[in-house]
Amino acid sequence: MRTDRWWLAPVLTVIGLTAWVAYATFRVFMQKLYWIDAYHYLTPFYSPCVSKGCYPAAAEFGRFLPDNPLIPFAALSLPFLLLFRLTCYYYRKAYYRSFWLSPPACAVPDGHANYSGETRFPLIFQNAHRYAFYAAVLISLINTWDAVLAMHSPSGFGFGLGNVILWINVIMLWAYTASCHSCRHIIGGRLKHFSKHPVRYRLWTWVSKLNARHMGLAWITLATLAITDFYIMGLAAGWWSDLRFIG
Ligand code: FES
Repeated sequence: MRTDRWWLAPVLTVIGLTAWVAYATFRVFMQKLYWIDAYHYLTPFYSPCVSKGCYPAAAEFGRFLPDNPLIPFAALSLPFLLLFRLTCYYYRKAYYRSFWLSPPACAVPDGHANYSGETRFPLIFQNAHRYAFYAAVLISLINTWDAVLAMHSPSGFGFGLGNVILWINVIMLWAYTASCHSCRHIIGGRLKHFSKHPVRYRLWTWVSKLNARHMGLAWITLATLAITDFYIMGLAAGWWSDLRFIG
């Protein structure tokens, strides 16, 4: 009986997520235009680059996965990132509502006759989110290391527009990861008295502020990831050149 445009959010979510997944899939299997040798820019979709097909200079952590068109160059990290996002509390809400219509919006009937929640196979595996969080922290560290290594030019130290884009992406990835509900629980959960744990309490208040923005950060990081990747692809393809400030 709702007469407002309750369907708008689910429709925008379907369009946004479908477009992003299509772009990411296309790029991950492209296996080229992911590395700028002069500036050491590596797109996050290929980090860490661990395939035998990677450029040697881009493979900071070694090249040990087979070079196969069906195996992404970052096949070590991508499954964990996918798990982290798929089991994220916000994305669960987003795709339950928009793709599964379960329910499509508040006070709108569920698209299904039965509802078993997340208590049974397969959705019981949504509980793996807390473990995916630890993997995401490790991968964010690797992305940070990539951004540090990218402060490079053929003459040594360098800084350009690509660095600005890479650092914005890394900062946003940390903000998204730190705003995770599992992170908030790890930091401030299971405590009976905050007064006896002042450091954890202080951290918990910071994380809680970020946590309130988790949905926004989820979308912002999808955008920064795609923009970073697209910028580096364009540089590698010669569509534009990097605006250099130093080096
Ligand atoms: Fe979204 Fe953990 S709840 S990343």
